[in-house]
Amino acid sequence: MAYNLLKEKRGIIFGALNEQSIAWKVAERAVEEGAQIVLTNMAVSIRLGSIGELAKRCNAPIIEADATSVEDLERLVDESMAHFGGKIDFVLHSVGMSPNVRKGRAYEDLNYDFLSKTLDVSAVSFHKLLHTLFVKDALREWGSVVALTYLAAQRSVCGYSDMADAKALLESVARNFGERYGRHRNVRVNTVSQSPTATTAGMGVAGMQGMLAYADAMSPLGNASAEDCADYVVTLFSDLTRKVTMQNLYHDGGFSSVALSERVYDTFLKGLE
Ligand SMILES: NC(=O)c1ccc[n+]([C@@H]2O[C@H](COP(=O)([O-])OP(=O)(O)OC[C@H]3O[C@@H](n4cnc5c(N)ncnc54)[C@H](O)[C@@H]3O)[C@@H](O)[C@H]2O)c1
Repeated sequence: MAYNLLKEKRGIIFGALNEQSIAWKVAERAVEEGAQIVLTNMAVSIRLGSIGELAKRCNAPIIEADATSVEDLERLVDESMAHFGGKIDFVLHSVGMSPNVRKGRAYEDLNYDFLSKTLDVSAVSFHKLLHTLFVKDALREWGSVVALTYLAAQRSVCGYSDMADAKALLESVARNFGERYGRHRNVRVNTVSQSPTATTAGMGVAGMQGMLAYADAMSPLGNASAEDCADYVVTLFSDLTRKVTMQNLYHDGGFSSVALSERVYDTFLKGLE
């Protein structure tokens, strides 16, 4: 159901690679809610993924940008404002990648060049993005910026390797830039901590299939899907959440507040008695 929550709003969506991507669902949902959007991703993902199909569905241009390049981000923001004919209301940062996770490097045996890349792509890129938007004064008053994160920033999760450190930094950037952006421009900055989700990046984490089943059994409401996440993110872009900022918002079916659920007990522990 659509509520016109984003009528007359204009936003940039990072990170739609294919139909499984969380950003893909947010893009579709934002347009359904009346927004105009620009899609962005890095060149190789545009070439190998299916973002072109999404662009057609959403009647949106694709502007290539590597989120680690300030030069690319500047061009993206300039071209987006030219496309919209004015300032931007919302931005989704849905960007993450760890060469250590990709290559199966354990946390106690990290490659440090890979770690720098992980942090740059998955966290520092968010600072670069906020900095670029701020310097160009590209966001309208009461604008909203959301980045996607994961519970491994607060709790140790096996298999997540150095992405845990990247997410901790990402959430810290949201708080610290959020304070400045709120004070100077009345702009909100938040992170949404999403359930494990079967996407390209998600399935790259070792043991993800088991993790999905475990998280689902732990969560009173079950895992939140990418579609559920899109619904939630759209509310954060809307005018209904104007005073929510500098928060890490759990969108995980309750997982983060449970230590042992009945379903996990019944499935994994009952037989041990
Ligand atoms: N899938 C999950 O279980 C899960 C859970 C919580 C949070 N998240 C977060 O959600 C976000 C989106 O991931 P997803 O699960 O939809 O997977 P995905 O693989 O569909 O999306 C990841 C995106 O990051 C983009 N990207 C990587 N490097 C980039 C760069 N240098 N510049 C620009 N874009 C770049 C990729 O092209 C891709 O589109 C990530 O931040 C991820 O950590 C995912």
